[in-house]
This record gives sequence, structure tokens and C-alpha cells, in this order.
Amino acid sequence: MAEGLEGVIAARTVLSEVDGARGRLIIRGYRVEDLAGRARFEEVARHLFEGFFDDLPEQAEFDRRLGEARAQVFAEARIRENLARLEPVEAVRALIAAMPDGDDLDTALRLVAGVATFSAAVVRLEAGQTPVAPDPEAGHAHDFLRMLRGAAPSRAEAEALDAYLVTVCDHGLNASTFAARVVASTRAGLTSSVLAGISALKGPLHGGAPGPIIAMLDEIGEPTRARAWIEDALDRGERLMGFGHRVYKVRDPRADALKAAIGRLAAQSPALPGRLAFAEAVEQAVLMVLRERKPKRPLDTNVEFYTALLLEALGFPAAAFTCTFAAARTAGWIAHAKEQHATGRLIRPESLYIGPQPEPVAA
Ligand code: SDX
Repeated sequence: MAEGLEGVIAARTVLSEVDGARGRLIIRGYRVEDLAGRARFEEVARHLFEGFFDDLPEQAEFDRRLGEARAQVFAEARIRENLARLEPVEAVRALIAAMPDGDDLDTALRLVAGVATFSAAVVRLEAGQTPVAPDPEAGHAHDFLRMLRGAAPSRAEAEALDAYLVTVCDHGLNASTFAARVVASTRAGLTSSVLAGISALKGPLHGGAPGPIIAMLDEIGEPTRARAWIEDALDRGERLMGFGHRVYKVRDPRADALKAAIGRLAAQSPALPGRLAFAEAVEQAVLMVLRERKPKRPLDTNVEFYTALLLEALGFPAAAFTCTFAAARTAGWIAHAKEQHATGRLIRPESLYIGPQPEPVAA
């Protein structure tokens, strides 16, 4: 039995390939480093959807409808102050749960639009600010940042968020995508698949990892304290967020794609170069200690370490990192759900019963 289905191939997919041995990620035929910083999120989302929606429009119309969908879901949703008592990702989940199910392109666009729009809205609510209505004419990443801050981002900031959304939009059969496919295999609908994805993603072993990374950096404070902090954390049996991966046995290629995006942003953000240099020093200390402590375990930097730095630089509070991850991965969840629906069967593995056998019943 493969604990955690490690090494088990549970689906054939045209969407992405994660090569853990060589540290390579291909998304619909493109290496992630050739997409991040070059293709817009709308372009990659549409590319993920190709072949799964008969009425998929050309790019310009796709962009227009996605912008329109942001305005629609914002107008229809009941984004109320009581959501502020929830974690941002839980508040986004509650708002998505109120959306109808369906398998059509409109449902898909509303879901992609909704996770981003609701993420920005609930972050503002939690800060005691009024949610900002979408601008359907703006690019998706630009509008996401504008709704978050209440002011237009710079071109470099919108491009940095775009690079992040593209980098993490799909990644093989990770836990949240597998959850989305399981739900799709029962033909429950895309909203149900996205809800399953969001729920799986929020776990600290998966998409819940980036938030604690900021806390780690802040607690370490300066490079000379890194090693002692790391040793103490490992002595407490803690996992170092942002490191290790079920599939990558080498460095996650997305870490460098995001580091490059941070580098492009640093030119206009004076504090960022120093923050980046500090994070690199902490990263090196973690890798050294993990190599000493777990010599048989290839534990390298994964996507979340530089995710935390990039989203922090763009003004996302750490509590909102997971719903921002979900805003990107919703495109991947939908594509996988449609693929499972079209080519897969009901996902229903066996289990090994290790419970008690019934006692013989007295005649
Ligand atoms: C994502 O699957 C995907 O594709 C996910 C993702 C995506 O795009 O969808 O890439 C996104 O989820 C990235 C991972 C984000 N999570 C973290 O950064 C959390 C910290 N990392 C881990 O907890 C861990 O590395 C996992 C959960 C990601 C993977 O763990 P595995 O493959 O289940 O391995 P394991 O838990 O069995 O650990 C093996 C050993 C253990 O030590 P021993 O018991 O053998 O002595 O390695 C150790 C673990 O203690 N270990 C770590 C560690 N990760 C593994 N020790 C310290 N810090 C860590 N981060």
C-alpha cells in the first residue's frame, strides 16, 4: 500500500507535468520559467481551459468576460462584516459556497473571478475597510491588487502578481487538485470541485505554508540568529515551512521563477533588496541544517518560501497568502475537474479493513 498514495499515478493529464527528479514543471507544453513574467494569468488560464469548453472564446473576449465576471460576482455576493471573524481563506470559501454549481464556462469564469475578488474584499473587511468594486476593464492581476489596496498598482507590481498567479496556477496532482478531481469524478459540478480544492489547500502542509514563513523570518530577525532558531524549531519537532516536497527531490523550479519576479520588483521597492538578502541567508541556513539533520531526505526550497516574500512585498497580509494561492489555482482545479469529467471515471480506491471482525451471534 502506498501511504498517502506516494508514487501512485491516479490520472492521465494534458495539463501539467511535475518532474521531481529534474526539478522541472511543464504547464500545457510550456516550462513554468518560460511562462512566469512573460504570459498573463488570463492567457495561461485560457490555455488550461482549451479543449474543455466548446464555447471557449478568443483571448480578448475571454479577458472581457473574466472582467465582467468579477463585477457580477461582486455585485451579487453578500460580502458582509460578519465574514471578518473568519480567516480570509474561510471567508472566501463561504462566499464561493453561495455560488451555484455548474460545468459551463460562465460558472468557470465566475469562480476564477470570485476567488480573487472575494480575497481582496475579505482582506479589506478584516482591516476594517470597505470592499472595493472591480474594474472589469482592468487586467486580472492589476484589478486584484487595486481591489486589495483601493488604489491602482504600478505596472511592475501588477506584473509581479501576474508572474505569481501564473507560476502557481497548476501543479499536477497535488492534494487540492486531487480533491477537486475526486469531487468532479462524481459529477458534482465546478463550484463543488473548487470548494474541495480550497478546503484542501488551506492545510499548513499544503497551501497554508506561506503565512508562517513570514513569522519565521520575523522571529529570526537577523542572519546570525538563523541557525539557532532553526535548530530549536527542529528540536521541537516542527516542520520548516517552505521546504521539502512530496515530489521534488531537488529545488522547486518555481522558487527561482518567483525570486526573479521579486528581483524585478526590487528595483522600485527600496526595502526589498535587503529583505531578499536576509531571506536568502535564512534559506541557506535552513538547507544546511536540514542536510545535516536529514542527510537521507532531499529537502530543498519549495514554492512557498519566495511566495511569502513576493506577496508580502505586494502588500498582502500573511493571513491572505492562502486565498491568493487559491485565486491562481482555481484555474488549474477547474481544468482538472473538466478533464476528470471528460475522460475519467468515478474515483473510488479500495481500503484495507483493520478493524474488529463481528463476534459470532449466539443462536
Ligand atoms: C505545496 O504537492 C504539491 O505539488 C504541492 C504544491 C502545489 O503547488 O500544489 O507544490 C504546494 O504544498 C508545497 C509544500 C508546502 N508545504 C510546506 O512547505 C510545509 C513543510 N513541508 C512539509 O511538511 C513536507 O515537506 C511536505 C508535507 C511538503 C512533504 O512531506 P512528505 O513527502 O509527506 O514527507 P514526510 O512528511 O514523510 O517527511 C519525510 C521526512 C520526515 O523526517 P523523518 O520522519 O523521515 O525523520 O522529512 C522531514 C520529516 O520530518 N521533513 C521535514 C520537512 N519536510 C519533511 N523536516 C523539517 N522541515 C520540513 N519542511
